[in-house]
Amino acid sequence: MIILAIESSCDETACAVVEMGEGVRRILSNAVYSQIATHALYGGVVPEIASRAHIEAVSKVVAEALSSCGVGVRDIDAVGVTYAPGLIGSLLVGVSFAKSLALSLDVPLIPVDHIKGHAAAAYFTSDTLEAPFLALIVSGGHTSLYDVPSPTVFNEIGSTRDDAAGEAFDKIGRIMGLPYPGGAAMDRLAAVGFEKYCDEAHDMKFPSPALSGDTLDFSFSGLKTYALNLINSEKQRLGVQSGADLPEEFRAALAAGFTKAVADGVSSKLSSAVERTGARHVVVAGGVAANSHLRRAVEKVVKEHGAKLYIPPVSLCGDNGAMIGAAAYYEYLSGVRANSYLNAFASDEVERSARLKGADGIYKV
Ligand code: KG4
Ligand code: ZN
Repeated sequence: MIILAIESSCDETACAVVEMGEGVRRILSNAVYSQIATHALYGGVVPEIASRAHIEAVSKVVAEALSSCGVGVRDIDAVGVTYAPGLIGSLLVGVSFAKSLALSLDVPLIPVDHIKGHAAAAYFTSDTLEAPFLALIVSGGHTSLYDVPSPTVFNEIGSTRDDAAGEAFDKIGRIMGLPYPGGAAMDRLAAVGFEKYCDEAHDMKFPSPALSGDTLDFSFSGLKTYALNLINSEKQRLGVQSGADLPEEFRAALAAGFTKAVADGVSSKLSSAVERTGARHVVVAGGVAANSHLRRAVEKVVKEHGAKLYIPPVSLCGDNGAMIGAAAYYEYLSGVRANSYLNAFASDEVERSARLKGADGIYKV
C-alpha cells in the first residue's frame, strides 16, 4: 500500500511517500524541510517560531514529496501522521494537515507515535526485520530502551531520569561555541580528539550516564555538569570569554571524552538489556544514532551477544516522514485509525489522560 506520512513534532517539517506491504519496504520520496538555520540564531528550538515555520512549509513539503516520486494524490491508500510526543504547536500543524488530506481523499488516517516512528526507520535497512526486537531510541528528547514484542507494542524497560543524550550533546556543543544543534558538530570535533588526543594524559575521567545497579535507566545531568565545570575551569585558567576560544587540544579531547562516556554508558545498558530480554534483533535509532562513535560502540556490543543490529543510515536517523510511514503501516495492520477528533499530545502522560476520557480521536477497527 502507498502511505503518505507527515512529521512535524519538532523543527523539521517532513513528508514522505512510502510503499509498504508483504516483502515490500520502499521509500518513494522523503522530503525534509529543516528549520535549523532559523533556530540557530537562538541556540535552540523556539516553539512559537517552529509552529509558524511548519505552517509555512507543510503544504510545500507535501507537494514536493508527491511530485518528486510521481505519485498522485489518488494513489494514496492512507495518510500517516505523528501526533505525539513533541512540541504541541508543531504537532498540531502536521495533525491538522493530515486530517484534512485524509478526509478529502477519503482514506484512513493513521496516528503515529514519534518514538515508534524512529524505530520503524530500521525496517528500511532489511526486508527481514520483524518484531520481536529490542529498541534503543537515542534522540534530542529521549534515551530509552524498549522491549518490542510486536511492531506496535513498545514496553519501556529503561529510560533517562533527566536529560536525553541529544540534549546533553547540544548543551555542551553550545557552551563550546559549536553550531546548533551541537550533536553533529560534537561528532566531528570528537573525531579529531579520538585521532590526536585519546591517551592517558588527555583522559578527563567523565562519569558514566549509565546508572549503577540493576536498573536499565540513565542519567545525563551529572555528565553534563561535569563537562560544563571542566569548560568553565579551563576558561578561567586561560582567561578566555568563550568556549570557542579554548585551544583545539582541549576542545577536541573534551568532545572525544564526552562522546565516549555517552557511547560506553548507552551501550553498557544496551548490553544488559540484550542479556535480560534475550533479544536476537536489536534496533538502534533516533537523531543521536547518527553519532559515528556510538554506532561503532553499539555494533560491538550487539555482536558480542551474537544478536543482529539494525541501525538506519544517518539520513534516516533524524526526524523524517519515511519512518512515520513505516510505523503507520504497522499501526494500520493492527487496526489503529484516527477520526477528525485526533488531537496532538506533547507527552505520554497527557495522551494517557485524554485516552481515558475517550477524547483522543483514536480507535480500532
Ligand atoms: O531524533 P531527532 O532528530 O529529534 C528528536 O526527536 O529529538 O534528534 C535530534 C538530536 C539533536 O540533539 C542532535 O544534536 C542529535 O540528535 N544528533 C547527534 C548527531 N546528529 C544529530 N548527536 C550526536 N552525534 C551526531 N552525529
Ligand atoms: Zn525525533
